[in-house]
Amino acid sequence: MTHAVRRVAVIDSGLGLVGYADALLTLRPDLSLVLSMDPDHMPYGHRTPDEVRALVLASARATLAFDPDAIVVACNTASVHGLEALRLELEPAVPVVGTVPAIRPAAATGGPVAVWATAATTSSDYLRGLVDAFASDIETTAVPCHGLAEAIESADPRAVDDAVAAATAATPEGVRALVLGCTHYGLVADRIQHAMGDGVLVFDSPIAVARQALRRLGLEPDPEAPLWGVEETLLSGRRGSLPGSLATYAAGARLLATCDPVGRSTGRARGTEPRVGRNTLRP
Ligand code: DGL
Repeated sequence: MTHAVRRVAVIDSGLGLVGYADALLTLRPDLSLVLSMDPDHMPYGHRTPDEVRALVLASARATLAFDPDAIVVACNTASVHGLEALRLELEPAVPVVGTVPAIRPAAATGGPVAVWATAATTSSDYLRGLVDAFASDIETTAVPCHGLAEAIESADPRAVDDAVAAATAATPEGVRALVLGCTHYGLVADRIQHAMGDGVLVFDSPIAVARQALRRLGLEPDPEAPLWGVEETLLSGRRGSLPGSLATYAAGARLLATCDPVGRSTGRARGTEPRVGRNTLRP
C-alpha cells in the first residue's frame, strides 16, 4: 500500500532543532523534514522581541515553498516572541506547533525549580505567565545562560563546559528540577546533568513537542514506519546543507544518517518520490 509522505518544517536559529527533528523521526520515521536554520542571525537569545518575531516569520515563510503539512518552531525564544504572529499568518492552512518550557512537569516534583534559557526567554512575559499558571506555589528561578547556545552551536566542548559551569554557578543551591528552556541545551543534557548532579531531574521537551505535532497532523506514532528523514535544509532562507558538526551530538548523528552524503535521493519512503531535491551534507 502506498501513502503520501507528510512533510514537516522544523525551524530554529540553529542546531536547537536537531533534538526535535530527531524526536519527530523517532515517533514517525516516515516524515519528510525540511530544516530551516538561520546562521546569519543566530543567536536569537540577545535580540529584541520584534527582531525575533521578524526573523522567525522569515524563516517559516522560506519553508512554504516546500508545502509543509505543519511547522514546528523548535526554538523557545522564537516561540515566546513569534508564535502568535506565525499562527495569525499561517493557520489554519498550516498548523504551527511551538515549544514550551516543561514548567508543569517540573513543578510537579515540588521544586525548587530552575529554568535555563536565553536572556530573551527568561525576561519574557510568556515565561512569567507559565510560572504563574503552573508553578505559582513553587520556588522557581529563571537563569539566563549566556553563551551556552552559541557554544553548543560551535560544537566546542570546552566552551560548552565553561558555559554550563557558569549557568550551574548562577543556579540556586538545592534546586531539584531543571527545565531546559532553550532547545539547544538538550544536545548537551548529559553534561548539564553531570554538572548539576544526579539529584537534579532534568526536563526537556522534544518528545512532547513531537507528539503535539503528530496530533496536529492527525497521525499516530508509528516508530516502525520506513525511514524517510531529512529532505531539505534551509540556511537563512537559502538552500544549503547540514553542518558536519551535527555529528558531535547523538541526535545529530542520527539525523545525518538519514541524508545521502552526495545529496541524491536514497528512495527510503514508500509510495512517492520526494517533491523537491534531497538534502546534502556539507563536509
Ligand atoms: N534554540 C533557541 C531557543 O530555544 C535559541 C538559541 C539562540 O539564542 O539563538 O531559545
